[in-house]
Amino acid sequence: MAASGFLRRAVDHRLKPYVRMLVRVEVDQMRSQIHEDTRSEIRSQVSSGLSAEMRSEVAAQLHTSPVVWAKIIPADEDREDLVVLGRDNEATPGDDGLPVPPPGMWELPGYRSGPEHVDSMRAILARAGCDLTDCGPVLDFGCGSGRMIRCLGDVAQNTEVWGVDINAESIAWCQANLSPPFHFVTSTTMPSLPFEDRTFGLVYAGSVFSHISELAETWLAELRRITRPGGYLYITVQDQAYIEAALALEPRHWTGDKVHDAADLLDRLGKDVSMVSLGRASKNAMVFHDRSSLVESWGRFLEVVEVVDRAWDIQTAVVLRRRPDA
Ligand SMILES: C[S@@+](CC[C@H](N)C(=O)[O-])C[C@H]1O[C@@H](n2cnc3c(N)ncnc32)[C@H](O)[C@@H]1O
Repeated sequence: MAASGFLRRAVDHRLKPYVRMLVRVEVDQMRSQIHEDTRSEIRSQVSSGLSAEMRSEVAAQLHTSPVVWAKIIPADEDREDLVVLGRDNEATPGDDGLPVPPPGMWELPGYRSGPEHVDSMRAILARAGCDLTDCGPVLDFGCGSGRMIRCLGDVAQNTEVWGVDINAESIAWCQANLSPPFHFVTSTTMPSLPFEDRTFGLVYAGSVFSHISELAETWLAELRRITRPGGYLYITVQDQAYIEAALALEPRHWTGDKVHDAADLLDRLGKDVSMVSLGRASKNAMVFHDRSSLVESWGRFLEVVEVVDRAWDIQTAVVLRRRPDA
């Protein structure tokens, strides 16, 4: 085996110069077949028109990309200039006294629904033995433009409260307008977060796993890594209880329509399917889990403390705990 590998490499080595020569001859022949006018046309397109088009395509991609790491962002789609956002001193503060992001930045309609979802989370976690003001550092995984984290001012007085999201534009806004007291960092779709092992007493994710179609278990393992032994996770998901609630929404809501239209797939949850993702991209995917498969699968990583219907709007909350000795 080793001898034949050695022989093949030796033959390859001796053949290489001839192969290179043949490729050069081929390329020269192809060149000579292209008329000089066509060649100069291609050259001019590449140096002027095409490259300008490509430049603006790249600028547009950068402007809209949810996964740009940098704080530096294009000033405007039609310009090449870059900016680092500062606090928006002209913005009217919200009812809570904090700056409010521009309307297009909200993933959900407005920041006013934040307190309801955070109060519900605090109550559920308190029942499980976790007091937010006394549990150690807190991470909002998938914080968007800060709808929930902005309700944790009391927690930030005693400990570090971090928000991460793959949406760089939202994070740049949060860094400029909500920090201090909160801390923010842009993350990636690869399950890897820039925090030490066993950092947080609580990691929560409101409607984030409902958009993660791939590597969800790897993400859970990553969140477990950065949670302290004895620390908590609060993750909302879309399961059968969500589907039932979505179909019952009055007046009929787009969520119900989506669930209704995908009934053939969603009906299979808990029968021969454990997860359904309507759409694939991280931003647009709507992910549904069979509750018992999820509890069984996540229970292998962490202790499942409680599963609560309608905890975050009509999403179900899964409360998990890293075992104190793990
Ligand atoms: C429906 S929004 C919820 C935002 C926020 N948690 C809230 O309750 O207002 C979903 C958020 O999850 C973020 N997201 C999706 N996949 C993510 C991932 N793998 N890592 C971090 N954030 C993610 C999206 O960018 C988006 O901001």
